Formats: sequence, C-alpha cells, structure tokens
Amino acid sequence: MSHFDNRAQNWDKGNTQVAGAKVIADAIREKILLNDTMEIIDFGTGTGLLGFDIATSVKQIHGVDTSSKMLEKLEEKNSEALTIIPYKQDIIKEPLEQKFDGLVSSMTLHHIENLKEFFQTIYTTLKEKSFIAIADLEREDGSFHSDNAGVFHYGFEKESLIQIVKDTGFQNVSFENINTIKKPHRDFGVFLLTATK
Ligand SMILES: C[S@@+](CC[C@H](N)C(=O)[O-])C[C@H]1O[C@@H](n2cnc3c(N)ncnc32)[C@H](O)[C@@H]1O
Repeated sequence: MSHFDNRAQNWDKGNTQVAGAKVIADAIREKILLNDTMEIIDFGTGTGLLGFDIATSVKQIHGVDTSSKMLEKLEEKNSEALTIIPYKQDIIKEPLEQKFDGLVSSMTLHHIENLKEFFQTIYTTLKEKSFIAIADLEREDGSFHSDNAGVFHYGFEKESLIQIVKDTGFQNVSFENINTIKKPHRDFGVFLLTATK
C-alpha cells in the first residue's frame, strides 16, 4: 500500500489540506478566467479537494492520481450535481489520449521525480491556448513532511522552476506566493505557478 493509500481515510479531516486547497482554488480563479466549456485535468487530485472547488466553474474535471484509495474517497464525494472523472494512471508513463483546456494541481509536483519529463508530457496533453496552474511548496529544508518517502523535491526555487517551464515551451510564466502554512517549528511558503501554452 502506498503512502497516500494509507492517508486517504483521514485526508479530508486535515485542516491544512482542506483550507490549503481552498486558498489555492481562490488564487487560481484570480489568475485564470475559468469557464463552463473547459475540460481540466486535476493532476494528483487525491480526494478532489481542489478539483471539486474548480469543478463548479468548468465543464468537467478529470482527476488523475496514482493512489487507488485516494480516488476511492474522491468517488464517494461524486454526486449528480458535481462529478470528477477519476483516472488511476501515471500519465507521465501512460499519457491521456484526450486533449485538455488546462491543468490544475495542488501539492503534487514535489512527488514528481523528473520535472522536465512531466512538463513535456503535460504540454503535449494540452490544447493550444490552454493553461497550467500548479501550486506547491516554496524551497524548504526537508522538514515539511514527517516522512519524506516519495518526496523528490524539498519545495521549489522560483527561477529554476520557471526556467524548466519556459524551456518546455510554455509562455507567460508567473510564480507567486499565495499562502503560508504554519507548523510549530517553522512556516512554509506555498506558490502558484501559472503559464499558458
Ligand atoms: C499531497 S497529495 C495532494 C492531493 C490533493 N491535490 C490535495 O491538495 O488535497 C499528493 C497526491 O499526488 C498523488 N501522486 C503522487 N505521485 C503521483 C503521480 N506520479 N501521478 C499522479 N498522482 C500522483 C498522490 O497519490 C496524492 O494523492
């Protein structure tokens, strides 16, 4: 069982997760003009904390995750009124065939080992004039997680991440602080990176 399979049952009970996803959704809405024709990927959707919020403003969210237990919790929240289509798939190894209008993501990028490969894959999975809106931790000292299994990056340094995104071909790249997560031993910055194809 993966780390996130073990955490799925209690994921939505975590205030850091729930409140954090809301801040990210609000920040995405401020930067990106969402509309009800858009088909959007929520990468690393988990239980859909970000995806269900964004789903109210777009046509359809496609929630991608590698943890079956996180996706089971997401599916429990699907309703006639609001549904995320779940994909248990590593889209870097096995890309989606459909093309999308955008990609949102919350706190998942630090779990992706090869960033160049990731951005190249999503670039080809997105339509022309689409967007990405990816939130994650700013550079940290490795103390954010109590267990760093599956953590490939201790947050991200602004300039080097922007360079990778630009090198992939994305334009209008922006990286800004949108939140601070306070833990007893220190604060952690959260950024939102946006760009267009
Ligand atoms: C920190 S959680 C964030 C979940 C959700 N976005 C949220 O904000 O509540 C990271 C999620 O990324 C998923 N994940 C990790 N590696 C992944 C990969 N290669 N492809 C898709 N999902 C992945 C995990 O299973 C987990 O659900």
